[in-house]
Amino acid sequence: MRRKLAAGNWKMNGTTAALSELEALARAYPTSSIDVLICPPATLLHRAAEVVRDTEVTVGGQNCHAATAGAHTGDISADMLVDAGASAVILGHSERREDHGEQNEDVRAKARAAMDAGLKAIICVGESLEQREAANTLDIIGGQMSGSIPDQSTGENLIVAYEPIWAIGTGKVPTLNEIGEVHDFIRNRLERRFGEGVGRSVRLLYGGSVKPSNADEIFGVSNVDGALVGGASLKTRDFSGIVDALLKA
Ligand code: 13P
Repeated sequence: MRRKLAAGNWKMNGTTAALSELEALARAYPTSSIDVLICPPATLLHRAAEVVRDTEVTVGGQNCHAATAGAHTGDISADMLVDAGASAVILGHSERREDHGEQNEDVRAKARAAMDAGLKAIICVGESLEQREAANTLDIIGGQMSGSIPDQSTGENLIVAYEPIWAIGTGKVPTLNEIGEVHDFIRNRLERRFGEGVGRSVRLLYGGSVKPSNADEIFGVSNVDGALVGGASLKTRDFSGIVDALLKA
């Protein structure tokens, strides 16, 4: 059985005041049968880890460097994330692929570093609208998977997030059939590459305009083990609606 996961990606949002949202979230779920993860900006990570200490909520990073240390001004290593209290890191988000030109090989190197440091790597894949309209979605996802996911992946250290680029922050969501088709494809690919045992144990998240109002139906889709949530993770009132939907799923 895969443990379900509700993950929040705060992106470049949140200063000290936002820690009160995290406090409220940790208070709302003193015990939980699912995993709840918040990835705040790096500046808040250490304090966020203190806020959720001894609760069921964990915190993670939004990126890391592939090297363990060195002359890389402005970058953060996986060991530094661990030191700050992270249990996971989001890698290969489309915003990093677009804003920073990250390629599949870069994502794979970062994921290796993250896994070596003991972090769970949440590797993001997803097609653009153009690619979907040209019926290239599965080819794109397959290519991103083989390029970005390292060989050392297991059900413990790898989580794959399917985030169609055109659904991020737009209020547009693929149909349930479209989500199911991609998640089944990702599962199948993982089983073929890593064997059934590992392939079946990796958690698959859907991300892109997940809200309390659509979470129920998305969590009913096969091979959806949770969500990676952007905008609706910033306010605990909204994020709780999604966590509650996952608890019932
Ligand atoms: P939204 O939930 O704001 O669409 O963002 C999704 C996302 O990019 C999470 O990583």
